[in-house]
Amino acid sequence: MLFKNTAAPLGALLAFCPSTLVAQNTACQTTTVQASVPNNTNVALHSYSYCGGSLDVSVYIANVNYNKVVTLYYTDSQGVSTPLTSVSLGYNSSIPDTNYEFWSANTPVYLDGLTELLNLTYQATDIGQTYVQQLQLAVKASGSPPPAPAAIPSPYASPSGFSDDITAWLAPSNGSQADFSKTHMFLNINPDIDGAVKGTVVAARSGPSYDQKLPDYEYDWVRDSSLTMDVVQSLYAASRVDKLTRKYKDMLFHYAQGRAVEQTDPSLTFAGLGEPKFYLNNTAFTGPWGRPQNDGPATAAITLMEFANDYMKKGGSLSSVRDRIYNSTSNPQEAPVLKDLLFVASNWSSPSFDLWEEEESTHFYTRLVQRRALVMGAKFATMLGDGATSDTLSSAAIQLTATLDQFWSPNRKLILYEYGPVLHGKSSFIDIAVILGVIHGYAGDDVYSYTNDRVLASALKISTSFLDVYPIANVTKASNGLPLGIPIGRYPEDVYNGVGTSSNGGNPWYLTTATMAQYLYSVASELQTAGSLTVNNVTAPFFAYYAPAAGLKLSKPYSSNTQEFASVIASLKGWGDAYIRRIKYHTAAGGNLAEEFNRNNGIAQGAADLTWSYASLLTAAFARAALSGDESYVQKIAALAYE
Ligand SMILES: *[C@@H]1O[C@H](CO)[C@@H](O)[C@H](O)[C@H]1NC(C)=O
Ligand SMILES: *[C@@H]1O[C@H](CO)[C@@H](O)[C@H](O)[C@H]1NC(C)=O
Ligand SMILES: *[C@@H]1O[C@H](CO)[C@@H](O)[C@H](O)[C@H]1NC(C)=O
Ligand SMILES: *[C@@H]1O[C@H](CO)[C@@H](O)[C@H](O)[C@H]1NC(C)=O
Ligand SMILES: *[C@@H]1O[C@H](CO)[C@@H](O)[C@H](O)[C@H]1NC(C)=O
Ligand SMILES: *[C@@H]1O[C@H](CO)[C@@H](O)[C@H](O)[C@H]1NC(C)=O
Ligand SMILES: *[C@@H]1O[C@H](CO)[C@@H](O)[C@H](O)[C@H]1NC(C)=O
Ligand SMILES: *[C@@H]1O[C@H](CO)[C@@H](O)[C@H](O)[C@H]1NC(C)=O
Ligand SMILES: *[C@@H]1O[C@H](CO)[C@@H](O)[C@H](O)[C@H]1NC(C)=O
Repeated sequence: MLFKNTAAPLGALLAFCPSTLVAQNTACQTTTVQASVPNNTNVALHSYSYCGGSLDVSVYIANVNYNKVVTLYYTDSQGVSTPLTSVSLGYNSSIPDTNYEFWSANTPVYLDGLTELLNLTYQATDIGQTYVQQLQLAVKASGSPPPAPAAIPSPYASPSGFSDDITAWLAPSNGSQADFSKTHMFLNINPDIDGAVKGTVVAARSGPSYDQKLPDYEYDWVRDSSLTMDVVQSLYAASRVDKLTRKYKDMLFHYAQGRAVEQTDPSLTFAGLGEPKFYLNNTAFTGPWGRPQNDGPATAAITLMEFANDYMKKGGSLSSVRDRIYNSTSNPQEAPVLKDLLFVASNWSSPSFDLWEEEESTHFYTRLVQRRALVMGAKFATMLGDGATSDTLSSAAIQLTATLDQFWSPNRKLILYEYGPVLHGKSSFIDIAVILGVIHGYAGDDVYSYTNDRVLASALKISTSFLDVYPIANVTKASNGLPLGIPIGRYPEDVYNGVGTSSNGGNPWYLTTATMAQYLYSVASELQTAGSLTVNNVTAPFFAYYAPAAGLKLSKPYSSNTQEFASVIASLKGWGDAYIRRIKYHTAAGGNLAEEFNRNNGIAQGAADLTWSYASLLTAAFARAALSGDESYVQKIAALAYE
C-alpha cells in the first residue's frame, strides 16, 4: 500500500523479472524483423524470441510524448487471445541521434504458451494518439524447455493446536500485545496533529509531525481508514461498557461524516469517489498518484453498513441511520453510504489501481470487496425501503459475480491477483491481496469463501512463494523452540523497501503475515461450521502442507467427529499461531508495529506505527478467539481502557 511508483519508468522494474528462468543458451533463436531505425512509423517491432519459455521483444518507439503505454498482443498455446495474453513493454534505452527509443520486455509466458504475435499497440496518452503495427507472426519456441512449475516444498514444521505463548501475547488484558495494538491503533484515529479533523485516520506515525526520517504517511487513506474503522465497529458491537460504547459510536459517526466530506470535496480529481488519499484536514491530495482506487468506496460502505446494523441492534433508530449514514441525496454532508454504493454499482467494471497503489488493472481484491458492498448494500437498501437502489445494486452484483471465474488459472492452480498482462515484472501473478480480498470481501454466501477450493489452493501457492525469497525464512523456530510461520510479504517480486525501491528490496510485512494467520483460523472455523471435509485434487496440496498429520485421502468425506477432521483443525490452529509467532518474533521490544520487517535481519522497517498493522493483528486475534470458542474476547478487548 501507500506507494505509487510514479518516478521509476517501467523499464527499470523489468530488471527484476525472474531472469534466472530464462535459459541463457546458444540455441535461443532471435528473429530480427527490422534492423534499422524506422522513418515512417511510430511503432515497429525490432526483434523477438520465445526462448526457454520467455518472450523477449524489442520495439522501436517514436518519442512523440512523455507518457507511453506499449502493449504486445499475442495468442496462447490454444491460439486464443485474452487479457492475459499481452505484455506491457517498458522503456529500455534511447537510440542516439534519432527521435526513437527501444522498448522491451522479457517475460515468462510458458504457462499459457505462445503461438502468434498479433499486434503492437502504442498509446501516446498525453496527446491522445494510438499507433498500431499489425504483426500476425507465427512464433516457434527455441532454447531449452521451459522450467517445470515450482514444486511446493515439504512443510518445515507440523504445529498442532493453540500455544500458550500466543494466547498470552494476545490476551485481552492490560499490558498484552493486543492491548498495546488497540491503544496504538486509537492513537492514529482522530490523530492529535495540527490541522487534523475528526473522522480521519492517519495511516502511520510516520511523517513531518513525528520527526522521523521515514516515508510520509501522514495522510488519511480511504482504504486504511475503512479497515481501521471496521475494527472500531467490531469493538462497538461487542462493547458492554456504556462509556466506551458511546465513545466508539461517536467515532463511527464522525467517520461517516468525514467520508461524506471527502465525497463532496470540490478538489476531487477525475477519480471521483475513487480518490484514494486525503490530507488530515480531509481535503483531497491532488498531486500525482495512482488513481482511481475503487476499492475504497466499497470498504467504507461495508464498515458503515455493519455499524448501522449494530447501531440499530443497540436501539439506534432507523431514521438516524437514514439521515446520518445512508441517504447522501438528502444529507450529502453527513451520510455517505448511498453515494459510495451507487459509485460501486456503476464503476466496478472500470480498471482501477490495486490496494498497493501500483498497478491499474482488473484486480481480484477490488472486485471481491465491491461484490460484498453490493450484496450487503442490496439488503441494506431494502431495509430502508429504497427498492430502486436495491435493484440497481443486486443487478450489478450479479454481473460482477459472473466475471470472477476469469481470475482462476487452472494451469497455475492460482487465483490471479489481476486479470491482465504481466505488470511490473509480477509474472508469478501471486499476491497476498487475493487472501485479503477474501477476508475483506467474502459476503457470507459461498462465493469465494475461505474454504473455496481455489482460495485454498491459492493460499498455499502464495504463502510458500516467500520461502525462497526472504533469507529470514530460514529461521524457523522461536527461542522457545516453537515454529515460526513463513514471513509473508505482498508478492514475491516486490521491490518496495518501505521508503523507496531497491533491488531485492521487498520485505515481509506485519499485516500480510497476520493475514495468513487470520485466514487459517477462519478456514478452520468455516470447516467446523460445515461439519465435514472432502479433499479434491485442487485442495490436496493445501492440506498436504498445512495438515499433513491428518493423512487425508482424495474424495473421501470426513465428518467433524472423525480423528482426521480433528487433526486438520488442530494443524490449522498450530499454523495460525506459528504465523502470529512470526510477527511476535520480529516485533520490537516496546511492541510497536511498523509496516515491514527486513528480509535479511528481521528488524522493523518502513513507516512506524502503521495503523493497518495494529488493525490486522487485532482482526487475526478476533478470528483466533472465534475459533477457540471464546465469545467474550472482543468484548474484553473493547472494555480495555485506552488513551
Ligand atoms: C526510410 O527507411 C527505408 C527502409 O526502412 C529506407 O529504404 C529509406 O531510404 C528511408 N528513407 C529515408 C528518407 O531515410
Ligand atoms: C534492453 O534491451 C536489451 C537488448 O534487447 C536487453 O538485453 C536488455 O535486457 C533490455 N533491458 C531491459 C531493462 O529490459
Ligand atoms: C490487437 O490485438 C488485440 C487482441 O486480439 C485486439 O483486441 C486489438 O483490437 C488489436 N488491435 C488492433 C488495433 O488491431
Ligand atoms: C495498565 O498497566 C499499566 C502498567 O503496565 C498501568 O500503568 C496502568 O494503570 C494499567 N491500566 C489499567 C486500566 O489497569
Ligand atoms: C464512474 O462511473 C461514472 C458513470 O458511469 C463515470 O462517469 C465515471 O468516469 C466513473 N469513474 C471512475 C473513477 O471510474
Ligand atoms: C489542507 O492541508 C493541506 C496540507 O497541509 C493544505 O495544503 C491545504 O491548503 C489544506 N486545505 C484546507 C482547506 O485547509
Ligand atoms: C433520500 O432522500 C431523498 C431526497 O430527500 C428522498 O427523495 C429519498 O426518498 C430518500 N431515500 C431514503 C431511502 O430515505
Ligand atoms: C539464514 O541465512 C542467513 C543468510 O543467508 C545466514 O546468515 C543465517 O545463518 C541462516 N540462519 C539459519 C538459522 O540457517
Ligand atoms: C482433478 O479432478 C477433476 C474432477 O474430479 C478431474 O476432471 C481432473 O482430471 C483431475 N485432475 C487431475 C490432474 O487429476
